[in-house]
Amino acid sequence: MTALVIGGAGYVGSHVVHALLDRGEPVVVVDDLSSGHRETVPAAAHFVQADMADSVRMARVCAEHAVDAALCFAGKIEVGESVKDPRRHWRTNVGGTVALLEGLLDARVPHFVFSSTAAVYGTPEVVPIPDDATERPTNPYGATKLAVERMLGAYADAYPLAYTALRYFNAAGADPARGLGERHDPETHLIPNAIRAALGLRGPLEVFGDDWPTPDGTCVRDYVHVSDLADAHVLALAALRRGECPRAMNLGSTAGSSVNEVIGTVEHLSGKVVPRRYVARRPGDPAVLVAASARATTALGWQPSRSTLDRIVGDALAWHANPLAR
Ligand SMILES: NC(=O)c1ccc[n+]([C@@H]2O[C@H](COP(=O)([O-])OP(=O)(O)OC[C@H]3O[C@@H](n4cnc5c(N)ncnc54)[C@H](O)[C@@H]3O)[C@@H](O)[C@H]2O)c1
Repeated sequence: MTALVIGGAGYVGSHVVHALLDRGEPVVVVDDLSSGHRETVPAAAHFVQADMADSVRMARVCAEHAVDAALCFAGKIEVGESVKDPRRHWRTNVGGTVALLEGLLDARVPHFVFSSTAAVYGTPEVVPIPDDATERPTNPYGATKLAVERMLGAYADAYPLAYTALRYFNAAGADPARGLGERHDPETHLIPNAIRAALGLRGPLEVFGDDWPTPDGTCVRDYVHVSDLADAHVLALAALRRGECPRAMNLGSTAGSSVNEVIGTVEHLSGKVVPRRYVARRPGDPAVLVAASARATTALGWQPSRSTLDRIVGDALAWHANPLAR
């Protein structure tokens, strides 16, 4: 049994590759390195630089390595870009994943884990957001992820394919001991940007609105430690292989933190000020996004034990303190 990790040189994927190897799982990483980092792929994993849209190559890699499960992290992830230039998101996230599935089905790969997102819900009616909340994405990024989920549902009904879509909330933190951390370009996520502002590696952080209906007026989000996400993937893969994995699950910490709380934690743990500017609200941002992750707890026995703000920011700071990491 070999796991194929598509997008395994990226932020979340690289942590999952290590977690799978830790459990003795043979791993093949496919990544086109469009936003990933080759050096994060350990020597113990076989690396193939390729576009997941190359179905013939994907089928060949699966056959050569006796792949029985694929985990797909590859995709475009920037919400703002998905609004301004949606075709790249649709082409990669939907077109690329459709083509990938052609290769996987041709190679008769029976298990598939898909990186989905809280963005499939849009502006939630109920918070914490339950696993069965109505999906109403408010941007093309979330729409592309939901489109793939719908496709997977139809494929799993028709073909010998079991899948799960893991809907991450805000992936955050790092594994500094392994040199793994968050390195997107451009970086749009709050925690690395607050740390970079504190370290003088970028200009002041922009905070989008301090007049939200939240306790301190800034938006509240659910930060989940990337190593907890990695655990969830390992557990989900085992559940798929046992034939008892739900088709969609939220992965969040179930705790909300405001932007000001994140900034305060960065300042407290780094001993430095986070230079910042409060600017107007961004259209389409919900005030509060927090997960109820009941299904992952019940079905997988998952516990996001590292997902406290102190641990997440502490690990991210430790990773940023290593100049090679940035
Ligand atoms: N980071 C988050 O907070 C977050 C939250 C919710 C969902 N997600 C989802 O999780 C997944 C991983 O996110 P991330 O932050 O690790 O992103 P990332 O950009 O760090 O990683 C994506 C990886 O996929 C590779 N890739 C992209 N297109 C490819 C293609 N066509 N063929 C092969 N490889 C390709 C990139 O080179 C990169 O290594 C994404 O699908 C994202 O939508 C992330």
